[in-house]
Amino acid sequence: MTKSALIAGSTGLVGNELLQVLLQKDYDKIYALVRKPLTIKHPKLVEVICDFDQLDNMEAHFAVNHVYCCLGTTIKKAKSKGEMVKVDVDYPYMMAKLAKKQKVEHFVIISSMNANARSKLFYPRIKGLLEDKLKTLSLTSLSIIRPSLLLGERQEKRRGERAGIKLYQLLSPFLSDDKKNKFAVEAKNVAIAMAVIPEKEVNGVTIYTSEEIAAIVNNHRGNQSITT
Ligand SMILES: NC(=O)c1ccc[n+]([C@@H]2O[C@H](COP(=O)([O-])OP(=O)(O)OC[C@H]3O[C@@H](n4cnc5c(N)ncnc54)[C@H](OP(=O)(O)O)[C@@H]3O)[C@@H](O)[C@H]2O)c1
Repeated sequence: MTKSALIAGSTGLVGNELLQVLLQKDYDKIYALVRKPLTIKHPKLVEVICDFDQLDNMEAHFAVNHVYCCLGTTIKKAKSKGEMVKVDVDYPYMMAKLAKKQKVEHFVIISSMNANARSKLFYPRIKGLLEDKLKTLSLTSLSIIRPSLLLGERQEKRRGERAGIKLYQLLSPFLSDDKKNKFAVEAKNVAIAMAVIPEKEVNGVTIYTSEEIAAIVNNHRGNQSITT
């Protein structure tokens, strides 16, 4: 039986790492919904240039086993709160609705640490809002990843993020592993965890914090060293 996946956000920090990991897995086809052409080519990879305001037209591509959503933006890039909500809430929610229609087995999405629809802060509030909306869909299996600060090489300059990463680098020699994960997590590890999660059949909603991401990655690395 063939196995396929769809990914959105594969040009981003986590999404790009995730695409590389998924291409090594046992999928026969991976559909990448993108706004602009990807720089990589691979026999399993099907690039689908997409206008995310017209996601409805993409329904046929959602006839896959697993859907991964790594979409997101910043207020600086989006230029308004409304535009940011479109990318961080409306598009992922639309994707989840299409996944539901196509009876996708597992929907995996990145939200954020502290996501809470009742938060006074805009970013955790919209992430919480998205999570609440996704939960209403009763997807077969919904995995919500809530990473702390993401670590990784980014072309774009994000001042706030950089300051957080500098602080993390200063403090990390004095922090326990658990505290380090609470503070920040490698984008690559988020990607590994996202790819591993659907390998176990778990129905309903599961939320993964950075500490749980680290545990999944450690376990995965342990299993790999046993089999190699
Ligand atoms: N940064 C952090 O420390 C942090 C912490 C916790 C959670 N998160 C969340 O984790 C997720 C992934 O973060 P990341 O840093 O990997 O994201 P990223 O590097 O900013 O990548 C975002 C992805 O979303 C796509 N995107 C943005 N605007 C779009 C639009 N209008 N239409 C279609 N696609 C659009 C981008 O595509 P293009 O290349 O076409 O722009 C890109 O593929 C986000 O939801 C973020 O909020 C981030």
